[in-house]
Amino acid sequence: MKRVYVAVFTLVTALAVVLSLSLSAHAQNASETLFKSKCAACHGPDGTGSATGKKLGAHDFTTAEVQKMTDAQLTDTITNGKGKMPAYKSLKPEDIKGLVAYIRTLKK
Ligand code: HEC
Repeated sequence: MKRVYVAVFTLVTALAVVLSLSLSAHAQNASETLFKSKCAACHGPDGTGSATGKKLGAHDFTTAEVQKMTDAQLTDTITNGKGKMPAYKSLKPEDIKGLVAYIRTLKK
């Protein structure tokens, strides 16, 4: 009988792990899509900055200069804008959180 419990427990745990991994992969893809549609025009698909973005003063997301900024600072810049960076108040807080997490993945 005990073996059955162990087997069921193992199965449930494995399923939970697979499910949470696929959910976070999904969230990351959604953020990547959002970044590529709304942000890449200035920041480039890889975050290093397009020609337009660099002219406006965007910094390379892969460098320590941007990566050393806190999540709160990045969130604030995206939400409220900064210099020539437009504000994205229309985005949901969880979308912005996803974008910040996506920017973290661009670190070299
Ligand atoms: C019209 C061009 C433009 C678009 C579109 C744009 N940005 Fe920016 N972004 C900028 C500029 C210019 C700065 C630099 C602002 C400053 O420091 O004066 C900046 C700064 C930032 C920063 C702070 C790091 C830095 O470079 O100083 C973050 C984070 C950021 N943008 C994220 C985003 C995200 C996420 C989006 C999409 C939702 C986005 N940006 C869309 C132009 C843009």
